Amino acid sequence: MAATRTQLSQAYPIGSRVDEDGRLQLGGCDAVELAREFGTPAYVVVEDDLRARAQTFVEAFRARTKNFDVLFASKAFPCTAIYRVLAQEGIACDVASGGELALALRGGFDPARIYMHGNAKSVAELRFARESGVGHIVIDNADEIERLEQVVGGDEPQPVLLRVTPDVSGATHAAISTGQADSKFGFSMIDAPDAIARVSNSEQLQLVGLHVHIGSQILELEPFRRAIEAIAPLGDFGTYNLGGGLGVAYTSAQEPPRITDYVAAKVDTVERVLGPGKRILDEPGRALVANSTVTLYTVQSVKRNVSTWVGVDGGMSDNLRPMLYGALYEAQVADRFGGGTRSRLTGKHCESGDVLVRDVELDDPRVGDVIVTPATGAYGHAMANNYNGVPRPPVIMVSHGDARVVVRRETYDDLFARDVD
Ligand code: LLP
Repeated sequence: MAATRTQLSQAYPIGSRVDEDGRLQLGGCDAVELAREFGTPAYVVVEDDLRARAQTFVEAFRARTKNFDVLFASKAFPCTAIYRVLAQEGIACDVASGGELALALRGGFDPARIYMHGNAKSVAELRFARESGVGHIVIDNADEIERLEQVVGGDEPQPVLLRVTPDVSGATHAAISTGQADSKFGFSMIDAPDAIARVSNSEQLQLVGLHVHIGSQILELEPFRRAIEAIAPLGDFGTYNLGGGLGVAYTSAQEPPRITDYVAAKVDTVERVLGPGKRILDEPGRALVANSTVTLYTVQSVKRNVSTWVGVDGGMSDNLRPMLYGALYEAQVADRFGGGTRSRLTGKHCESGDVLVRDVELDDPRVGDVIVTPATGAYGHAMANNYNGVPRPPVIMVSHGDARVVVRRETYDDLFARDVD
């Protein structure tokens, strides 16, 4: 297939290109060479892409307000090296468990700029947050108020935000919609006033503001505006954490709002509805990391029956999203971009549902080909698992022609590592 006609979709990392020989280049490295050197499957992260998106968020806020912070919603890619890069970019961090807190600290985040979430935080997690000096804890429910008060005891009060559920949701998969009234997250609009009064009167807790997160992979701006409008009647606070949720392009057909437009919508609505000078926090996860990363696989089998089944050496152990949410991805042969053979790209797991891309055009796929799926940075490594005893892939970071392993591939020994006899 002629490589010259290849225009990479926006799902690929910034700066990626298909060279004159038709080969994919990522961060100055040849994708097939990376597959040879590090093996497959592998997550390949383009460091400059990560940095650029963090900077775009920060600059977009800075252009509209002085009083803000951008928090990396680290559940999207909880890997020490990713925390490190984003900490270096000067942004803050959201963690949703003790484990993510441990990773964020190891990645170099200042604990004072860490925000701790969770709808079922344990006493141990709250203690860990306190002992680490976590700046803010986001209270999700009434049980947590008392639990946290006990953990704080007679020590300095803990700054907290209160998570409210605005009864606003965006168009997204039900499993990742959180803003509807019937949600496991946050205080309902009915319960929020009492919770606000309760926390305001607490000696152990210092209420600094509200938190609202309506869901994830949202491709329109209106729901974000409506959520801010919805929480206005709850009172006047100094700080509003507006959550994350900005969707990304997984395929060339998807057109997410630009980061600058998303930030403008949120900041302008806060100023219009909640008043000027508010401290605005935002928690992007996916929009920071999804498109920074591709997954490389090697074709192990090509079977033709009713369809053409292209079987690769990974699947639902490294990318659960197609199975969990019916998520769509693109795929290409990494050194023969183009189409010609309508294929089903399948994983190696023992389920018929283990299909990475149900309908994809590949250029005459053959055993040994390296396949690339873009936009796997968010919730790929994060939700990777060992189904069928498949070791989890390494994370390779590429930058200006250099590649380094930042998480090594799991080994079979790792699969036995927790056995006690
Ligand atoms: N803030 C809170 C409180 C959240 O719960 C989340 C995501 C975020 C921020 C970041 O949202 P984002 O900007 O990434 O949309 N595993 C699913 C996504 C789950 C999202 C959970 N919470 C997926 O693969 O689509």
